[in-house]
Amino acid sequence: MWNEIKKNLISARVYLVEFLSFDISIVALIFLLNGKSGIDFPLIILLIVFSLFLLNYLGKRRNRELDEIKQIINNIRENYYSNSDEIKLSRNLLGLQESIKLMFRKTKNDIEYLKRLQKMRTEFLANVSHELRTPIFAIQGYIETLLNGAINDENVNKNFLSKANHHTLSLNNLLNDLIDISMIESGEMRMSFRYFKIDEYLRTLVNEFAPVAEEKNLKLIYYPVNENLQLFGDKDRLRQVIVNLINNAIKYTEAGTIEVLVEDEPKFGRIIVRDSGVGIPPEDVNRIFERFYRVDKARSRAVGGTGLGLAIVKHIVEAHGSKIEVKSNVGEGTEFSFRLKK
Ligand SMILES: Nc1ncnc2c1ncn2[C@@H]1O[C@H](COP(=O)(O)OP(=O)(O)OP(=O)(O)O)[C@@H](O)[C@H]1O
Ligand SMILES: [Mg+2]
Repeated sequence: MWNEIKKNLISARVYLVEFLSFDISIVALIFLLNGKSGIDFPLIILLIVFSLFLLNYLGKRRNRELDEIKQIINNIRENYYSNSDEIKLSRNLLGLQESIKLMFRKTKNDIEYLKRLQKMRTEFLANVSHELRTPIFAIQGYIETLLNGAINDENVNKNFLSKANHHTLSLNNLLNDLIDISMIESGEMRMSFRYFKIDEYLRTLVNEFAPVAEEKNLKLIYYPVNENLQLFGDKDRLRQVIVNLINNAIKYTEAGTIEVLVEDEPKFGRIIVRDSGVGIPPEDVNRIFERFYRVDKARSRAVGGTGLGLAIVKHIVEAHGSKIEVKSNVGEGTEFSFRLKK
């Protein structure tokens, strides 16, 4: 019992100053009213006993509340709660209860975010290794076959070398994409925004793709826009965006047309790349911007994609304060678009 009282009094020492001031005030009051004669020994003892009694009571309450809080903190530390609603404090501590719940939710979200990040990193590494392995194995295979005698076989030697070369090119593309992604994500990519004439810019770019489209018998059309229309952006980075979009449009279209155009809106120019290709199923539309995501893996491999293109496109468009939008119907075609400031 004495130990209990001692513990209570220690806990209540935060109120000591208040109690001393209270006791001194009472003594001073009595002194003012009755003079020195009013203050005698029993009165002082009475005051001290009364104060100790109250301090003990307050200390006890304080300890009880502190124990309650400690219990909750321990429970959180031991992952006892799965939901913030399970955290309950007594009525006096309701204000604190809300703060603890908020903290609990925040910590839970942070942990989940970190776990997701960790998972993404592992997946990313697995994907990168997988993508690197494919061309490296192929190159190794061709070189070994050549070394084992095929080099003297006029029928295949050139063919094998050109295939190996083709794979080194894809390796190079993959590495460039990876470098871009890492630069963008670490915030190291310097952007240089300027106004530029969009018509001339797109016309030149689209022209570069004429031979590729022709090879697949696709009609590649650029619809001219007011030649004085100026849009605001980083020309080099936007080139990457549009090249990616047109490349995709050509890759994923078997027959028909690819159209590139600018819609002249009051405050923006909206750049559109539209195709009449295979389209993207609704359940994949939101995922195509994820790194390495491909709708049809086998088909993508045949046309040589790694699934990084649109991830880069999204980053660059967002760095322009804009958003990339997709509309697609399976079997009918796809339209990618984004706005740039006028
Ligand atoms: N215009 C399109 N029509 C149909 N599907 C598309 C189109 N553009 C993209 N996709 C789908 O989205 C996926 C992701 O596109 P993304 O450009 O990121 O990768 P990729 O073209 O496969 O490879 P990379 O661009 O890295 O060479 C593609 O694999 C394809 O399935
Ligand atoms: Mg692509």
